[in-house]
Amino acid sequence: MKPMLQIDGLHSYYGDSHILRGVELSIAAGQAVGLLGRNGMGKTTLIRTLMGYVKPAAGHVRWNGHDVTAQAPERIARLGVGYVPEGRGVFPNLSVRENLVMSERAGAGGQRAWTLDRVLQLFPRLAERLHHGGMQLSGGEQQMLAIGRALMTNPALLILDEATEGLAPLVVAEIWRVIAEVRASGISTLIVDRNYRAVLGHTDRAVVMEKGNIVLSGESTVLAGDHSALARWLGV
Ligand SMILES: Nc1ncnc2c1ncn2[C@@H]1O[C@H](COP(=O)(O)OP(=O)(O)O)[C@@H](O)[C@H]1O
Ligand SMILES: [Mg+2]
Repeated sequence: MKPMLQIDGLHSYYGDSHILRGVELSIAAGQAVGLLGRNGMGKTTLIRTLMGYVKPAAGHVRWNGHDVTAQAPERIARLGVGYVPEGRGVFPNLSVRENLVMSERAGAGGQRAWTLDRVLQLFPRLAERLHHGGMQLSGGEQQMLAIGRALMTNPALLILDEATEGLAPLVVAEIWRVIAEVRASGISTLIVDRNYRAVLGHTDRAVVMEKGNIVLSGESTVLAGDHSALARWLGV
């Protein structure tokens, strides 16, 4: 089967720093993939490159077989990639409702599975704060709103970069519950999170990045039991 997202030989630089060094990664439709690796190994750069925010020096990003390398982020998003960046990104001066409604659109295949009502069902807390401004939300609520906004675009793939970073344990649990529901709804996911156990518990496959390369890839259940690999690559 042809993968939905296929990344081949991707190299990216920040100035003279060679960050991505030939990354290969593919994600099939409906698949949940974990992206693991210590701090500074290039996970965010890989996501920013596939989204079109960083222009790669070499390599290709393909979406359903079409070359989308270095296309504008807005275009990649319209093709069906929802991206919740590190540090969120909600509009502080707009209400929760406005933040959600402004993101609403049909998916690339015309699907409108995710509506305001469905997102509010998924996040009861946001429903309670519908008319609050983005600025008045707690960190956890802002994160939920960022995920809700991505879902309103009806993506085929949802990318979450450190979605639980800095949140209280109860809110973190809520985010993982939502990730499980998103996965069950058939949306593919690419998940970066410091909690590798949670990542492995919510994905089919995972890959490990080390200095700009994927050094390990496997089924999440198998990786979860591979203590020597986890110790070697994640230092756990
Ligand atoms: N905007 C930037 N300019 C220069 N170097 C950067 C920039 N962003 C990240 N880096 C460097 O690129 C490397 C990879 O970073 P990043 O992709 O953020 O890693 P990760 O997400 O795995 O923690 C790190 O060495 C980091 O310091
Ligand atoms: Mg990062």
